[in-house]
Amino acid sequence: MDCDTIWDNARLVTLAGDTNPLDIVERGLVAATAGRILYAGPRDDAPELSASRTIDCEDRLMTPGLIDCHTHLVYAGSRAVEWEKRLAGASYEDIARAGGGIVSTMNATRAASEAELMAQSRLRLDALIAEGVTTVEIKSGYGLELATERRMLQVARSLGEACGVNVSTTFLGAHAVPPEYAGRADDYIDLVINEMLPQLAAEGLVDAVDAFCEGIGFTPDQTERVFAAARQLGLPVKLHAEQLSNLHGAALAARHNALSADHLEHLDAEGIAAMASSGAVATLLPGAFYFTRETRLPPVAALREAGVPIAIATDCNPGTSPLTSLLLAMNMAATLFRLTVDECLTGTTRNAALALGVPDVGTLAPGRWADLAVWNVSEPAELVYRMGSNPLHARYRRGH
Ligand code: NIG
Ligand code: FE
Repeated sequence: MDCDTIWDNARLVTLAGDTNPLDIVERGLVAATAGRILYAGPRDDAPELSASRTIDCEDRLMTPGLIDCHTHLVYAGSRAVEWEKRLAGASYEDIARAGGGIVSTMNATRAASEAELMAQSRLRLDALIAEGVTTVEIKSGYGLELATERRMLQVARSLGEACGVNVSTTFLGAHAVPPEYAGRADDYIDLVINEMLPQLAAEGLVDAVDAFCEGIGFTPDQTERVFAAARQLGLPVKLHAEQLSNLHGAALAARHNALSADHLEHLDAEGIAAMASSGAVATLLPGAFYFTRETRLPPVAALREAGVPIAIATDCNPGTSPLTSLLLAMNMAATLFRLTVDECLTGTTRNAALALGVPDVGTLAPGRWADLAVWNVSEPAELVYRMGSNPLHARYRRGH
């Protein structure tokens, strides 16, 4: 059989099995053609193959390319000085109510040209890529008006092209009420669902739709209106739910067949049951938990018990998680949330793919994209254990 590339002598973390979550293959081999995996398994069982390029992995660990399934990495400006105020005692919500927070990033993002937005955001994306990320979700939500939301989503798409990474775009028009709509949140939701979303969807810029369902965000009724509009356009939804309080957003998301509900520190048993029956992924964001000094833990044991798939992401954003390391997010998920190594790795590969509704990444199996990360370690635990070091040896996206 002819193929383009063979990666030989790797310890494969395929994540493709039904029983053992990591499904490790010793002395493994991966073959790819036209960017897709043709074979992934024991080298001794491989079919007769001839390739134009063979790469010896020298017994290193190989995983699927990592997937960061929740980021707000396209934005302009910095909130470091605001954070200094938070260190001195102001809360995240105090700052949002005083016109800072998301609105301050909105001002900087509205003022930035496409080139400026691209240059600033690219540094964050490059940091993720340097750690083996091959798929990333990027949300809008710092424009809060049509032109800037469009610019953010266009920059997200262009970054995917420029940096060689798969980008899933999420429209988060319902992130905050912009100042020109102060006191008129329902009118702003009208704008989101009647103008912004249909226009941006028609331009092919929207892969999914998200909202911030929270006291300082939008009510469940407003969220419901956004979801109904998304579904009318055939777009999947996801939700920032139960981050600061319990508005039963996860159950609402589950009723709309959401791909995921994210954050979830305040999730209750009813929300867990609703997610379990709808199949929604629980995306945990330990960087935001850490950075906001949250003390309430997401209900990991109950999620696990209910069989809800768990994903882990950076939530890279200027306000609550200025984090550009998915490896560190895994370490935090283990240390702070008590996730196992297997759960951390599944949460940044197979389950993260589920959270994005993209079936052709996240495992090493025939037919999937040959998105691969080769690591200078031999044990999966080493990927989760380290803090602030990067054991990536090589990264391939679609075979290159
Ligand atoms: O995921 N919760 C809302 N959105 C972000 C924070 C955005 C910001 O503060 O800029 C989050 O935590
Ligand atoms: Fe977020």
